[in-house]
Amino acid sequence: MNSKEYIEEAEQLLLHTYNRYQIVLDRGEGMYLYDLDGKKYLDFCAGIAVFALGYRNEAFNSAVKAQVDKLVHTSNYYYNVPAVNAAEKLLKAAHMDRVFFTNSGTEAIEGAIKTARKYAFKKDGSTDHEIIAMNHSFHGRSMGALSVTGNPKYQEAFRPLIGNIRFADFNNLNSVKALVNEKTCAILLEPVQGEGGIYPAAPEFIQGLRRLCDEKDILLIFDEIQCGMGRTGTMFACEYYGVEPDVMTVAKALGCGLPVGAFLCKGRAAALEAGDHGSTYGGNPLVCAAASKVFDLFEELHILDNVRETGAYLAEKLDELAARHPHITDRRGRGLMQGLEFDRPVGGIIKAALDHGLILISAGTDVIRFLPPLVAKKEHVDEMLVKLEESITDAGLNG
Ligand SMILES: Cc1ncc(COP(=O)(O)O)c(C=O)c1O
Repeated sequence: MNSKEYIEEAEQLLLHTYNRYQIVLDRGEGMYLYDLDGKKYLDFCAGIAVFALGYRNEAFNSAVKAQVDKLVHTSNYYYNVPAVNAAEKLLKAAHMDRVFFTNSGTEAIEGAIKTARKYAFKKDGSTDHEIIAMNHSFHGRSMGALSVTGNPKYQEAFRPLIGNIRFADFNNLNSVKALVNEKTCAILLEPVQGEGGIYPAAPEFIQGLRRLCDEKDILLIFDEIQCGMGRTGTMFACEYYGVEPDVMTVAKALGCGLPVGAFLCKGRAAALEAGDHGSTYGGNPLVCAAASKVFDLFEELHILDNVRETGAYLAEKLDELAARHPHITDRRGRGLMQGLEFDRPVGGIIKAALDHGLILISAGTDVIRFLPPLVAKKEHVDEMLVKLEESITDAGLNG
C-alpha cells in the first residue's frame, strides 16, 4: 500500500480524535524523520517533547532490546531491578523522596491529585478539599487531569468533571491568594506552560506560591511533564527558580518514547499507602530500563550543556526573525522550549513547513512551538530557520 492508501485506511479504522497531517512517518535517524515515500523531515517537535536523544540512539536502543530479551513485564506485586535503578536516578535528579511510575503524563497527574486529596484527608478526615489550578494550563485528557486543565474548550462536552477545582491566573499571585481557603489542599501548575502558549512562570510567582503553601500547609505540585527532563536547560524547570515542589509529575522524555510517567513526592507529601493506588503496567521492567538508560545518556552526552548552548542560539535567532517580521508579536521560552507568537493562526505555516521538510507544532492557535530533540545543534537551528522563513512566505505572510 502507498501513503495515500494507508491514510485512507487509517481514517476508516482509527477514531478521528486528531486532525492528522497527511504524511505517514516511517523511520527516524538523529534529528530527522522519514516518511513512507522516503521524504526527509527535520524534526523540531520530537513527538511533542518526547524524543530527547534523537532517533536511533544506539546505546538507548540496545538497552531496550536487552531488556526485551530478559523480562518485559511483571506485576507490581514483585520487585524488579530496572524499576529500582530508574527510581534512584529520577529521585536523585529531582531531589524528591518517593516515586510511583505511571504509563503516561495524564496518569501522573491523576496520582498527584489523589496524593493531594489523601494528604489533606489524613489531616482532618474531611472529603471536600479543593485544588487550585491555572487558567490556560494543560494536564491531560482523563477525567481528573481534564478537570484541572484550565481550558473550557477541552472540558465542555465531558461535564460533570471532578469537583472542587478552582482556577487562578498564571503569574498572578493575588489571584491564587484570593482562592485559598481552609479547604485548599494543593496548588498545581506547569513552571513553563506548554500547550497554553509557552509561558514561563515569573520567579516571584513561583517563590510566592512556595511561601503561601508553606504558610498554609498546602501541597505545591509542579507539572514537569513537558518542561522537565532537561527541556529548559536544567534537569527540571523548577531548578531555575530555586524552588522545590512537594509533588512533581514527569513523563514524555523520561522514557524517550517508551510509555512511562511518574509522580514524585517529597517527605510528608508521600501520603498514599498500600491499596491506595496501582497500575498493571506502571513501572514495568521494560519502560524502567529505558528511563534508567535515559539518565545515563543525559550525563554521557552532556545533554543539559547542549540544551543551554543550542537553546540560547535558538532564542537569539528567533528574536532576530521576530525583529524583522511584522507578523511575529513575541518570542517566549527557555532552553529548547521556545514559542513564536504571530498576530494570526499559524496552521498554514505549519502545513507549509511539512512541504519544506520541517516538522513543527503549534501551542494554541497563534504560537509555533519549538521542541527539538535535546541533541539539536546550532546547524539544525540554522537549517530550521531557512525552512521556517520559506514556510512563512508560502503561508502568505511576507516579511
Ligand atoms: C504539561 C503537560 N501535562 C500533562 C500532559 C499529559 O501527558 P500525556 O499526554 O502523556 O498523558 C501533557 C501532554 O502534552 C503536558 O504537556
